[in-house]
Amino acid sequence: MADLSINLAGIKSPNPFWLASAPPTNTGYQVQRAFEAGWGGAVWKTLGDPIINTSSRFAAVNFNGQRVAGFNNIELITDRPLEVNLKEIYETKKRFPNHAIIASLMVEPTQHKWHEIVKRVEDVGVDGLELNFGCPHGMAERGMGAASGQQPDLVQAQTTWVKEVATTPVIVKLTPNITDITVVARHAVKGGADAISMINTINSLAGVDIHSWNTIPNVGGQGAHGGYCGPAVKPIALSMVAECARDRGVGIPISGIGGISTWQDVVEFMLMGATGIQVCTAVMHHGFRIVEEMIDGLNNYLDDKGLASVTELIGKSVSRYSNWGDLDLNYKVVARINENNCINCNKCHIACEDASHQCIDMLTNTDGKAILQVREEDCVGCNLCSIVCPADGAIDMVPVDTGAASLTWNQRQKVIGSLNGTYSEVEVV
Ligand SMILES: Cc1cc2nc3c(=O)[nH]c(=O)nc-3n(C[C@H](O)[C@H](O)[C@H](O)COP(=O)(O)O)c2cc1C
Ligand code: SF4
Ligand code: SF4
Repeated sequence: MADLSINLAGIKSPNPFWLASAPPTNTGYQVQRAFEAGWGGAVWKTLGDPIINTSSRFAAVNFNGQRVAGFNNIELITDRPLEVNLKEIYETKKRFPNHAIIASLMVEPTQHKWHEIVKRVEDVGVDGLELNFGCPHGMAERGMGAASGQQPDLVQAQTTWVKEVATTPVIVKLTPNITDITVVARHAVKGGADAISMINTINSLAGVDIHSWNTIPNVGGQGAHGGYCGPAVKPIALSMVAECARDRGVGIPISGIGGISTWQDVVEFMLMGATGIQVCTAVMHHGFRIVEEMIDGLNNYLDDKGLASVTELIGKSVSRYSNWGDLDLNYKVVARINENNCINCNKCHIACEDASHQCIDMLTNTDGKAILQVREEDCVGCNLCSIVCPADGAIDMVPVDTGAASLTWNQRQKVIGSLNGTYSEVEVV
């Protein structure tokens, strides 16, 4: 069995599975039960001035029979007194000295407020701090959370204030509600952050009840924008992790968050540069015990790959993530339909006719049976037919040799520019 332990910027944990700061980490009772179930770390529900929450506050987006494809909330940070949380953190750390306990913090953007809370939480023995510059609702209207996280200078200043007094590693949790996450990540680095985590929730409105005309969720008939998470946000989170992982101005460890619910998701985030991961929605949906399957699956996967440590996965796919301009324009795949596996549903034909390049022909084979065949010279290899095909193995996307040498858009422009003397080298970071 491989070694699952990680060390994220000095924070050690028996495995990469951490609970994200959220309802499952609200109390010592919950975090201790989670550790017993197998979670390696927990980021405590964000501490700050106790808050009054609304009733109701959650909503789920169901898609095609999946009950929680996406999850939305208008909850704020902890509504329990700081002293109670600190006492429970202390007790939990004493019972689980080798597990990672990180205090998530959010206060007004003033130096003395940050100094005060950092000292108080470090006194109870946390392994690290996570600065919540991410909540898009409620706190943001008061200048905290995403309102801070959307201003790179403010992220840098607050990180600096925390680093002035912190003795444990500082993770800056970023908001996805921004145009380019690397800009904020770089400012966190300039402020002295030891690591970054992403993503917090995406600004959202879960839905509108078409009968009552109320928003979902609503509080006595009124709704507000909330934060979106769960499986639906995973691709967004993964791309943000990838952007930060390949950015030369970032260069610090990443804790990956967003839509993670299986061991495969964990592997993907780690391959794309995360040192560890955090989970919220999947635990709210299925409970703490999902970690058992995640641990088993990850262990088997590492054994199959012959890897001795989970840390060997970190960043292995980062170099395979580049800019569009660096993709080979002469690489070509085509769709091939395998008659033996095809169930003749015709979905691929409709997709190609209506939304792609009209290159799947309806033919009759020698037995008089209707078959579909791709005209490979017209196929652009878009993948659409294979995406809509419901039968495993019925459509393969097959690389074909075009006879042309590899040529990227950037190389092409360089050649054209050098011919007419207008090309100037622009470094793409
Ligand atoms: C109900 C709810 C409350 C949350 N509260 C916090 C919080 O207090 N602090 C924080 O940093 N993130 C909070 N989050 C965001 C999560 O920590 C996490 O970043 C996000 O849900 C994405 O992960 P997921 O897709 O696994 O849920 C909350 C999320 C939910 C659903
Ligand atoms: S890959 Fe695209 S273009 Fe080619 S057959 Fe399928 S849908 Fe048509
Ligand atoms: S979508 Fe798949 S199963 Fe359906 S006709 Fe096309 S190849 Fe056959």
